[in-house]
Amino acid sequence: EKGGYPHFMLKEIYEQPKALKDTLSPRINENNEIILDDIKLTKEDLEKINKVVIVACGTAYHAGLVGRYAIEKFARIPVEVDVASEFRYRDPFVDDKTLFIAVSQSGETADTLAALREAKEKGARIMAVTNVVGSRISREADDVFYTWAGPEIAVASTKAYTTQLMAMYLIALNMGIKKGTVTKEKYDEVLTELKALPEKVETLLENIENIQKLADQQFHNENVFYIGRGIDDHVGREGSLKLKEISYIHSEAIAAGELKHGTIALIEEGTLVVALATHDYLYDKMLSNMKEVKARGAYVIGVAQEGNQEIEKSADAVIYIPNTMDELSPILSVIPLQLFAYYIAVARGADVDKPKNLAKSVTVE
Ligand code: F6R
Repeated sequence: EKGGYPHFMLKEIYEQPKALKDTLSPRINENNEIILDDIKLTKEDLEKINKVVIVACGTAYHAGLVGRYAIEKFARIPVEVDVASEFRYRDPFVDDKTLFIAVSQSGETADTLAALREAKEKGARIMAVTNVVGSRISREADDVFYTWAGPEIAVASTKAYTTQLMAMYLIALNMGIKKGTVTKEKYDEVLTELKALPEKVETLLENIENIQKLADQQFHNENVFYIGRGIDDHVGREGSLKLKEISYIHSEAIAAGELKHGTIALIEEGTLVVALATHDYLYDKMLSNMKEVKARGAYVIGVAQEGNQEIEKSADAVIYIPNTMDELSPILSVIPLQLFAYYIAVARGADVDKPKNLAKSVTVE
């Protein structure tokens, strides 16, 4: 059932090209239009919406952070993202002009469901992004986007996350074209690149020796930091969570610009720092953050787009991802982080598919 892979997690990492294709292809027609069958939100509905609230837990929350970026960028609507267990307790501003998006692989997470119900009661329009047809969250939503990732067995989420990212981009682009906040030219450019991503993920997955080697060198660390700016920071958070949950190494992800406001105090000789620098517009700032930690003895693994060799001066090792539009990099940059966490967990002899203390579906609040 593991299809020749030693763990479900690795199998699911390798299923990502297919999962992404399955999530994207059925939604694009021959005229390059995005067709979202289970989303009834019309242009008129959308004109009424003055705010989007995305709520989720764990990995799905990290997808929500990228969703905020995509919706604000393409649809120009202000977006708030919250973890579901916090959302209800701050008397949130939600009304009938709010679009509430619940992101949940299982569609059964108790906190996410409770937040959804709260938003519904306050009159919000409810959209669900979920991987399970007929799940509770899908049934209680007005609009549903199904990620077609297929069953995810490993407790650590991988293919569900990348398909959630794909969902967020499609939802954002679809809103943008309906609202007229994205030009047809930009829309076509993004869509063309989204279609190219499954193959780029495939290419990444064919070249993993470097990642495996780094994991074998670094698995003794007891403290790892992930830094990035913008959506790189969001991906860093996901990389950090993956590492924590399956390898039991303490890890923290922070926005790179926040380093000097505290966390840099923890950097010493040999501390491992994974630095994501996949964006042109923040590239120089990231390089200087990397130099800051390197100057204090950190071992820095950089993640950058191919061709950005400049990073090698600020890192001890570099993992390159195929070139893509800056906006879409999370779908590629998370893959090496998933593999890095996986190989470290394997090197430490951990039970990768069933980490201690964790359940696949959290149905208590
Ligand atoms: C991490 C992980 C969890 C889930 C979280 C939400 O790898 O799997 O953080 O993402 O429990 O679960 P869903 O998406 O089912 O609501």
